[in-house]
Amino acid sequence: MGNGFPPGFLWGSATAAAQIEGAAHQDGKEDSIWDAFARMPGAISHGDTPEVAVDHYSRMPEDVALMKRLNLQSYRFSTSWARVRPGDRFTNQRGLDFYSRLVDELLEAGILPWLTLYHWDLPQALEERGGWTDRETSFRFEEYAAVVYERLGDRVDHWTTFNEPLCSSLIGYGGGEHAPGRREPRAALSALHHQHLAHGLATRTLRELGAKQVGITLNLTNAIPNDPGSEADIDAARRLDAIWNRAFLEPLLLARYPADFLQDVARHRFEEFVQPGDLARIAAPLDFLGVNHYHDDNVSGSPQPSGGPAGVRPTGRPTSSPLIGSEHLTFPTRHLPRTAMDWEVNPDGLRRLLVRLGEEYPNLPPLYVTENGAAYEDVVEDGAVHDAERTRFLRAHIDAVAAAIEEGADVRGYFVWSLLDNFEWAWGYNKRFGIVRVDYDTQERIIKDSGLTYAGIIAGAVLAV
Ligand code: NOJ
Repeated sequence: MGNGFPPGFLWGSATAAAQIEGAAHQDGKEDSIWDAFARMPGAISHGDTPEVAVDHYSRMPEDVALMKRLNLQSYRFSTSWARVRPGDRFTNQRGLDFYSRLVDELLEAGILPWLTLYHWDLPQALEERGGWTDRETSFRFEEYAAVVYERLGDRVDHWTTFNEPLCSSLIGYGGGEHAPGRREPRAALSALHHQHLAHGLATRTLRELGAKQVGITLNLTNAIPNDPGSEADIDAARRLDAIWNRAFLEPLLLARYPADFLQDVARHRFEEFVQPGDLARIAAPLDFLGVNHYHDDNVSGSPQPSGGPAGVRPTGRPTSSPLIGSEHLTFPTRHLPRTAMDWEVNPDGLRRLLVRLGEEYPNLPPLYVTENGAAYEDVVEDGAVHDAERTRFLRAHIDAVAAAIEEGADVRGYFVWSLLDNFEWAWGYNKRFGIVRVDYDTQERIIKDSGLTYAGIIAGAVLAV
């Protein structure tokens, strides 16, 4: 092992369809819930929409060439359900053609395609029939997964069912800051279960069709009691851990929902959504678990006089969750540096999370860090972006991954979020996460210093093994 990374460790970068493609109504694509949500006044900063995004749909070959310049070994992207199956059960071949061309271009460049089927962009037509609150949507997802596999399965080995289901269920249907913008705790809980079920159904089908590697990506956190001596803070952290981490990890890995989560959501009659046989389907064995991590959560069970802005956290996480009845669940400020999202910079949290997962779940599959990165206020100077803070952020987090591996965590790869500046959901084009700068007027791309550094890290790690 050289440089702290085992041979074969996979280096990549990630994006998502709705955040980069644009062409929102081109070649047969119809509205996703994010197109519709963006039309709701006030839903997205500055009224931004995913309509054009960074025009990746037309600039795809140029973007793959950038990936090659960055030495990427893998590219994590998502397919848009509303492009492939707009409306209901009709398959839009022109939509699939785009992904087929993308996969060919990647393979030609020697870059491993890492495909995600659901990165939050449900077809609006399905939302109008209840979206993820309707159990039928899980079966529709299984059909969509099969259609994508049939076209790309000969060339794509790595299949991820869902990206961060917590955001597209609890925040989309409960917190309301994400599409479809609903604020109904019971709807959010049904969405959570139906996405789990959809994952289980699609996993079974993908395997039957011959998929080599099937997994899921979760956004996991370390829930830290603000005052380790306070019973209220310890309890708040336990409750956040239940709904944020264990309500996902336990059904997937242990075929059960956590007892304390069930107790917290009993008043919403959550168990009515869970039918006999569902949990066994959901716990279909995984080939890998993707972990997205940006920051930990410092939690208090008491009201915080100086706990930052009231209402919604910049993460899109509600400061108090109606789902768990924690009126006093708050996120006090610690004295750590912050990114432009106001998220704490704490690389050791990533190390701790990766190590802890292996300790807590004996049947844990291999891990991949499928997202990690930071938004900062970048400045273009003479055609360059000297993003020293992002560069430091990435170096420190990559070191944290190496430290986790040294401590025994089975981590097999790391993907920077994001390849390109892009549509940052409710924040619109305001927050830039890219290692490549995009000028939103001209669509010109500039590799930032962080991108150049990352390319060097990859080259160094590969040479060191
Ligand atoms: C996680 C999401 O998967 C991605 O879409 C988003 O842009 C990043 N976090 C940054 O917020």
